[in-house]
Amino acid sequence: MGSLFCYTLMLSVILSSSLETLDSAQDLQDSGYGRPSPRHGLKLLVWYVQNCVDNNMVALCNPLEGEYGFHPFLNRGPRHLLPIIRDKKQYKYFTIGNLHSPHAKDLPYEVRKYYNHSDPRSNQDRVLVRFNTNNKHIEEIYASAHYKAEETYIIGPDLLAFLRHPQVHMEIII
Ligand SMILES: *[C@@H]1O[C@H](CO)[C@@H](O)[C@H](O)[C@H]1NC(C)=O
Repeated sequence: MGSLFCYTLMLSVILSSSLETLDSAQDLQDSGYGRPSPRHGLKLLVWYVQNCVDNNMVALCNPLEGEYGFHPFLNRGPRHLLPIIRDKKQYKYFTIGNLHSPHAKDLPYEVRKYYNHSDPRSNQDRVLVRFNTNNKHIEEIYASAHYKAEETYIIGPDLLAFLRHPQVHMEIII
């Protein structure tokens, strides 16, 4: 019994996501995520939080319709980047930020302006969301560079609250 518990615990630790959570402006800064230019991830993240989710986490940009270049993120591969979704009917992952995607040109110029076909750094950053297709809620927001686990972060609730403030634009983007 004891060893079964131990085994189950170990298994759940191995299977669960080991992604780092960023939960303050300091965490975000220390992570180095999405900056400096030509990287676009930090601007993308702030724009997304301020324009695409309301205060109740309802999606204002529709991932299902591919707005702003949203497309499904399949979370495949031997090492799943994000936690595995069991209820695939209700929850889906979507990714935004590939500046080459259809409709990505609808993103604000601020986000797109350093895009350079010859420089992969200018198009490596993504925002990933866990979307509830029933109630249109965004259940989790992730920031990722190149879909690498060591450069993929969960955006915690306190950081989310911080990023919602309009003055953030001035403080950390410039
Ligand atoms: C685009 O990237 C290439 C390769 O890094 C660089 O040589 C070139 O100067 C860049 N162009 C612009 C307009 O920044």
